[in-house]
Amino acid sequence: MLHQVFEVGSLLQPNGQVPPPQPLHMVQASAPGKCILFGEHAVVYGQPAVAVAIDQRMTVSLEISDVWRIDGMRFSPERHPHVESLKQRLWANGPSLSIKVNGDIPPASGLGSSAALSVAASAALRCARGRQIKDDDWGEGWTAARPNAVYTGPWDVEQGDSVQTGKDSVDVDECAILSHAVEASAQGGRASPLDSSTCSHGGCIVLSDKVESDLNWIYSRTLNDVSWEVHAVDLPKEIEDVWLVIGNTGIHAPTSEQVAKVARLLENEPGRMREIETIGIISRRGIAALKEGNMEGVGRAMSENHLLLRSIGVSCSELESLISAAAPSSLGVKLTGAGGGGCMIALTRNPKETSEAIELAGGRTLISKIAAHGLIVDSDDNSPLWNPFE
Ligand code: MEV
Repeated sequence: MLHQVFEVGSLLQPNGQVPPPQPLHMVQASAPGKCILFGEHAVVYGQPAVAVAIDQRMTVSLEISDVWRIDGMRFSPERHPHVESLKQRLWANGPSLSIKVNGDIPPASGLGSSAALSVAASAALRCARGRQIKDDDWGEGWTAARPNAVYTGPWDVEQGDSVQTGKDSVDVDECAILSHAVEASAQGGRASPLDSSTCSHGGCIVLSDKVESDLNWIYSRTLNDVSWEVHAVDLPKEIEDVWLVIGNTGIHAPTSEQVAKVARLLENEPGRMREIETIGIISRRGIAALKEGNMEGVGRAMSENHLLLRSIGVSCSELESLISAAAPSSLGVKLTGAGGGGCMIALTRNPKETSEAIELAGGRTLISKIAAHGLIVDSDDNSPLWNPFE
């Protein structure tokens, strides 16, 4: 989607014609939401998990403004902690911005709306400021290869340094790191990089406690003594014949509360860690089926995974009724994301039939193909909006 805003000059040209439109200074980036096929909650404890990017996206556009605004309202750091946190990391001392957020990912529903927003906002902010380049290498930024390579001002600009601008300055891995950092602070320090990596890279992402030799390893992430190896998966052609139908209960369930609920369960009853480990075993079975193109096997593993999620207490009656309605026309059904409300997913060859069944049971549906495109910079024509290196 190429979205550009033009300002029409108020003065007519001598020939009486309206002058050609001048672009306002704006950049725009978008990122997809995600569905977790296997392993939510267990992944927080290092178990393997799989997520795919979905067709629904969040778009963030930025323009220089007289005061800080978000969607036309005064920007409030308390109401938008993710954006505030990114602003501090990428736009400290920068001029005021007007931020516009659009998208078709329902909020607080387990579809990665906050990770997609953070990824798109990281990309837009980076694009809007550019990146300092020193000795043909990054002069500043966040990378998996050098997790501590974070350069903050005052900028030590030397002769020969340059500033990379526009799309070229944006790095998917950096956006995933920043998004993970802000998700973690919003979830009280307990957050896996599953949502942030999937919304940034797109496609299909597998997290595991070890490097999986038959998957494409991308990088490692560590947070509070838990480490994850992040991989991308090349999906087989069989994926073209199936759809995900997403059923939304309409119940807002903050991820932080569900993650804390599971943490309390494990503290009070350490033996329940067996269920977390069993989710890990099911995820591995699901990954093998996915790689082989065995969609029936993928569906079976999803439904088994759901039974475990129900047993650790993150389902609810509304999710259960959407799941029961979708099951007869689907290969597999489960809640997706943190649970407690939010969404369920059905893997199906009959998206229309499955969607109608979910709607009849009171759910709102979205349909997506599996493994959509990751982060995209939609417009960088007028970047940088600010040069912090001058
Ligand atoms: C949320 O989409 C997935 C959880 O596993 C939390 C996390 O991975 O950070 C519940």
